[in-house]
Amino acid sequence: MSSIQTSSSRSLSARPAITASLEAWTGLDDEVLRELVHAFYGKIRNDSVLGPIFAARIDDWPPHLDRMTSFWSSVALMTGRYHGAPVPKHVGLPIDWSHFERWLTLFRETAMEICTPAGAAHVIERAERIARSLNFAIEDAKGTGIPKLV
Ligand code: HEM
Repeated sequence: MSSIQTSSSRSLSARPAITASLEAWTGLDDEVLRELVHAFYGKIRNDSVLGPIFAARIDDWPPHLDRMTSFWSSVALMTGRYHGAPVPKHVGLPIDWSHFERWLTLFRETAMEICTPAGAAHVIERAERIARSLNFAIEDAKGTGIPKLV
């Protein structure tokens, strides 16, 4: 009985402890992530290649920026604030790996301007990983990825 209580109170406090420790070593918090998201999508919207792809699908930017701030809070600080499904939103977009490389170039540049070196390295590593997995899903849906076995 007492061991059940101990393990349940540990798991309840696990997320804030992880978030606090991630904040401490990366220098990131929700304010910095909001600044990163706003600066990054400012560059995206001005980009001659990526800007029109976003403009064709996003009319109302403030909710998108709020969603992306929650997404980065979940991904970088494990706060669990984002409840969405990015893959279906990207499958079918007119993009290939060259677009992801451009996206990542702007993201790396912005992260290094806004975050501490450790914070930038942290979000860049995650962005690269997610970009590869989104690209894989997109290519798979195009039928040009690894052939399906069944
Ligand atoms: C060239 C690359 C990319 C393009 C053109 C792109 C485009 C878009 C567009 C147009 C939307 C809005 C979709 C809609 O609401 O209908 C969107 C949403 C989103 N994107 Fe991307 N994206 C790219 C790369 C990425 C990467 C690398 C990440 C993550 C690191 C990402 C994360 C997200 C998330 C979390 C959403 C919100 C999904 C939701 O509605 O919950 N995107 N993206």
